[in-house]
Amino acid sequence: MNTPSKLQKWVDHWVELCQPDSIHWCDGSEEENRMLFQQMVNSGMAVMLNEKKRPGSYYFQSDPSDVARVEDRTFICSAKQEDAGPTNNWLDPSEMKKILTEKFRGSMKGRAMYIIPFSMGPLGSKISKIGIQITDSPYVVVNMRIMTRMGKKVTGLLGDGDFIPCIHSVGSPLAPGQKDSKWPCAPIEQKYIAHFPETNEIWSYGSGYGGNALLGKKCLALRIASVMAKREGWLAEHMLIMGITNPQGVKKYFAAAFPSACGKTNLAMLIPTIPGWKVETVGDDIAWMKFGDDGYLYAINPEAGFFGVAPFTSMETNPNAMLSCWANSIFTNTALTPDGDIWWEGIGTDIPEGTLTWTNEVFDKEKHKVAAHPNARFTTPANQCPCIDKDWENPKGVPISAFIFGGRRPGTVPLVYQSFDWNHGVFMGSIVGSEVTAAAIGLKAGVRRDPFAMLPFCGYHMGDYFGHWVKIGSTAPDKTHLPKIFNVNWFRKGADGKFLWPGYGDNIRVLKWIFGRVEGTADAIETPIGNVPPKDGIDITGLHGAEANLDEVLKVDKTEWLNECELIADHQALFGSRMPEELKAQFEKLKSHLNK
Ligand code: OXD
Ligand code: MN
Repeated sequence: MNTPSKLQKWVDHWVELCQPDSIHWCDGSEEENRMLFQQMVNSGMAVMLNEKKRPGSYYFQSDPSDVARVEDRTFICSAKQEDAGPTNNWLDPSEMKKILTEKFRGSMKGRAMYIIPFSMGPLGSKISKIGIQITDSPYVVVNMRIMTRMGKKVTGLLGDGDFIPCIHSVGSPLAPGQKDSKWPCAPIEQKYIAHFPETNEIWSYGSGYGGNALLGKKCLALRIASVMAKREGWLAEHMLIMGITNPQGVKKYFAAAFPSACGKTNLAMLIPTIPGWKVETVGDDIAWMKFGDDGYLYAINPEAGFFGVAPFTSMETNPNAMLSCWANSIFTNTALTPDGDIWWEGIGTDIPEGTLTWTNEVFDKEKHKVAAHPNARFTTPANQCPCIDKDWENPKGVPISAFIFGGRRPGTVPLVYQSFDWNHGVFMGSIVGSEVTAAAIGLKAGVRRDPFAMLPFCGYHMGDYFGHWVKIGSTAPDKTHLPKIFNVNWFRKGADGKFLWPGYGDNIRVLKWIFGRVEGTADAIETPIGNVPPKDGIDITGLHGAEANLDEVLKVDKTEWLNECELIADHQALFGSRMPEELKAQFEKLKSHLNK
């Protein structure tokens, strides 16, 4: 291979430090993929699933200490601490590099080093970025092959040095003759997921799981990209992208931000319960957006696959996800049935006798609470999704008409409301909150504020991030083409503790109102917090019993919101002098509306 010199020098440096036994430049081919899986089956790391049930698919069990993103061990190493802000862990970049250089020294002994060229975004799109990940995990290689465009086709696009360098090691060197463990990784306190925003570098050590190890996803496409986006005037967001077509054949694209495990994948692949409507998927997790020459904001999905939470995905809750992972998929920490297929809680069938849990024990309902880990995942190619949008790989992206924010809020937040204007919408995004999920380790139960669903993913001071959103609005080439902004809450509960809204496919009824607002055809009632639909603004035809709950689910209760304001005050205070004046003014406005 004719390797650009900056890349070669960078690789040489890490080879010398990590001391791998061998070096493998990934070409992304079928043969390479087969060889890696075979090797992992031989070493006991992977199980090949039953070809008749789940063709081309493999099963993995992680180490119990390595099951999710590790937010406590994730660092933004900006030159100045204040630039990382109060919501990120920080360490001085040279200090972090000193610590990690020692960790990486010899860390790949006894292992192969893989070099993975990958593109985040369609090949050749102006919005896409190229990364190179070095890793000692073959599991990471086969996942990156699904989640990104990877291999030779990317190397061809590489100018000299124009890539984001990502170094990763599971941190578990092997002595000569030492048998490898099934899932090599380092103990939790030795894991480091470090980002260097000024130099666009990612150094990840000690974990082999998900966002800690597949560095294109959260590390590059969100933490590093959010900093690049601020610098360059675009948006890198934790958002799904969906296309919605109404019965008249009019199509619009929405982008929606929800904290982890709030059903983003389900919403992105929703099957409408009202006739004539269609939803198609562009992405389920991340959106990169830039203004086009026509003044609209265009979004691409930088990923090429779905890394979805498996438990409670079923033919009832998300048939499109189930059909996507029918083949050529990777399952991590689900349960394994005796006939060589996967199983998880909420899959819609009883657990077969003799199923192995994610901890590799025969499932016993007396002993095991669950058979699959709550953060068990499927990795599956996006192009296998039955409802994938025809423009999902369009290098130009798709024009966004609406932003939707949301979280799991048992009280206070109505089913849907619309912002009065852009800055009010930014304020709404800045106060998103949700009950804590299983996607990250080490969080206290309760509601946590998760602005724009970016709390674990923003690579710089969140106050400045809010300011960037304000600036996107004020500098938009054509303000009339800016997306309209909404907030939804599928998870409001009644006094009996039961959900007031059915959710899933019925969420199309809320999207229909949003669609109407974007088109200028749907009515709204002004409330102190924003515009809500009138009761007959939500189409509930065929939804038996829903009418009884509609008042409660749409309610804006002043007392609840005055309580919420106390929490918002604490939240705004966190960002100190970097809280934009525009958002402080929005908060004052909200309080005065509520006190009227
Ligand atoms: C994810 C997450 O895995 O948000 O997408 O945690
Ligand atoms: Mn996510």
